[in-house]
Amino acid sequence: MKRRVFIKGSVLGTVASVITGSVQAKMPTPAEVEGPFYPITPQKDQDADLTRVAGKNGVAQGEIIEVSGQVFDTDLNPVEGVTIDLWQANTFGKYHHPHDTSSAPVDENFQAWAIIQSGSQGRFKFKTVVPGAYPLGSNQQRTPHIHFKIGKNGYVPLLTQMYFPNHPLNKQDGLFKRKSAEEQARMTAKVAGNGNQYQYDIIIEKL
Ligand SMILES: [Fe+2]
Repeated sequence: MKRRVFIKGSVLGTVASVITGSVQAKMPTPAEVEGPFYPITPQKDQDADLTRVAGKNGVAQGEIIEVSGQVFDTDLNPVEGVTIDLWQANTFGKYHHPHDTSSAPVDENFQAWAIIQSGSQGRFKFKTVVPGAYPLGSNQQRTPHIHFKIGKNGYVPLLTQMYFPNHPLNKQDGLFKRKSAEEQARMTAKVAGNGNQYQYDIIIEKL
């Protein structure tokens, strides 16, 4: 009897160590709604520097930041050639979109929209400004965020929003609050290097 208990126990122990010792697959980055302001006005300049618009001499207003990261699959293999389509409000919380009727100003030197690709080791990088918060209805504000549409053939398309760490408005944001603390952590960039650099890794799932 004792021996049987021992064998049973050791078999269970082996199974447990196989599970904990295996490659830690990760969950894909949590999805979020597209929102009403995906760009609809054709735009020639969609490069990775949103702080300048081709053909204009000025620089976007606001706090300039650099966001870099890597795209992985759920087994944590880097994924190259992923299309990263991103758009955001300018520093004043205004989308360059005909349906954004707020009185906040458009910044003609802010590119507002970029379509870039992940390169070697799934890496990507873009330069932008911290998006402003913007009103939602009469008594709510959206906390600063960047919208992403991420896709590659053979992978589940991902629509999400990136948040900024410890922003005071995060706690009051309706969409952010709906996520679990663990999901919030995976949707929030990390401060990297000096305060103007952020790291944001993205995990997508194979079809
Ligand atoms: Fe938004």
